[in-house]
Amino acid sequence: MSLLLTNVGSLVTNDPAQGSGGLLGLVQDAAVVVEHGTIAWVGPAAAAPATDERFDAEGRALLPGFVDSHAHLVFAGDRTAEFNARMSGQAYTAGGIRTTVAATRAATDTELDANLARFVGEALRQGTTTIECKSGYGLTVEDEARALRIAAAHTPETTYLGAHVVAPEYADDPAGYVDLVTGEMLDACAPHARWVDVFCENGAFDGDQARAILTAGAKRGLIPRVHANQLSYGPGVQLAVELGAASADHCTHLTDADVAALASGDTVATLLPGAEFSTRAPYPDARRLIDAGATVALSTDCNPGSSFTSSMAFCVAVAVREMGMTPDEAVHAATVGGARALRRTDVGRITVGARADLLLLDAPSHVHLAYRPGVPLTAAVWRAGVREV
Ligand code: NIG
Ligand code: FE
Repeated sequence: MSLLLTNVGSLVTNDPAQGSGGLLGLVQDAAVVVEHGTIAWVGPAAAAPATDERFDAEGRALLPGFVDSHAHLVFAGDRTAEFNARMSGQAYTAGGIRTTVAATRAATDTELDANLARFVGEALRQGTTTIECKSGYGLTVEDEARALRIAAAHTPETTYLGAHVVAPEYADDPAGYVDLVTGEMLDACAPHARWVDVFCENGAFDGDQARAILTAGAKRGLIPRVHANQLSYGPGVQLAVELGAASADHCTHLTDADVAALASGDTVATLLPGAEFSTRAPYPDARRLIDAGATVALSTDCNPGSSFTSSMAFCVAVAVREMGMTPDEAVHAATVGGARALRRTDVGRITVGARADLLLLDAPSHVHLAYRPGVPLTAAVWRAGVREV
C-alpha cells in the first residue's frame, strides 16, 4: 500500500541536494510517497506519482521525526522538591541522582515499564520518533540489567550507564565500583545495550576511570558515548574524541582544544539545553562549535533531576534563543544531528529509502518551532509509515 502526503507547504528533507538546497534541503509545495514504511519518493507536489491513499497536508510544514539521542527514562520517583530548592538558589550537584536510584530500586518492573512507556508516548506526541534510553538509576548488577531489559522493549537505542555515579554501597571504594561496572555488571548488561556511557565529572568518574569503563564496554561491542564537560572543564570531551565515541554530551564547559578536538573528529557534540534551563546554568555555545566545524545534535536529556522535559521543540526554541543557533541549524541538530549521534542513516531525513518518520506541524514552516515557543504544534506523526498521532 502506498500513501501520498501532498500539499506540503514546506518540506525539510535534510538533503542539501533537494529543493532550494541549504542545510535543510527545503522543498516548497512538496509531496512525499510512503511505501512499506519507507520513503519511496520526494519532490514537487505537481510531479507526484499516483498512490492508493492520499493525505492533504493543507500547506503545512513536514519534517523528519525528532531524533532524541540522549534520555534517561527508566526511573521511578520525582524530584520536584530538589527543583524547587534550585529555583530558590541552590546549586545542582548531581547528588540527587541517589534519590532517584533509591526510588528506582524500590519500584517493580511493571512500574518502571509503565513510566517508560508514558515518557516514550509523551515524546512521540511531540514528534520524537527515535529515542535513546540509558540505564544509570539502578547501580547494582540486577538493577542495571533490568533497566536495560525494560528499555530494550521500547527502543533499540539502549545505553549502559552503570557509571552514572558510584553506587552508595561503594562510597568508600570507588575503585571497587569501577571493577564491578567493567566486570560482572557489564557482563549482565551488554546483551541488552548498544552503547556504553559514563558520567565523566568531578564527583562522578575521572578521566582514567572513564577510559577504563568505556574501553571495557567497547571490548564487549558497545559503542562509547560520554557525559562530558557538563558541570566543569575536564577530560571528557578529549577522551570521547580519542576513543572515537559516537557523541560527547553536554559540552557546556569547553576549552579551545576541546572545540578543536570535536571539530576534527567524528564525535558529535550533543547539546542538552533542558539541563542548563533546569539547573540555571550557562548554556553551551553552539555557535562556537558550529563555526569551528563540529557536528552538533540537540537532545532533551530527559531525566527527573537535571532536565525533566521530553520536548525536542522546547530544546530547539532554547537553542535558537540562547545558544546562537539559527532555526535551520537547531532543526537540523534535532533531527539528522541526533541521527548522527546514534550513527543512524535511516532516520532524521526525508529521503528515498529512509524510514518514514514524519512530523507534520500545525504551522507553515519549521521556523515556528522557535518562533512560537511552548505552543503545541504537532498536527500528526508517522513512525515507519504508521500514523501514531
Ligand atoms: O545528564 N549528568 C548526569 N546525569 C544526568 C542527570 C541525572 C540526574 O540528576 O538525575 C544528566 O544531566
Ligand atoms: Fe544525561
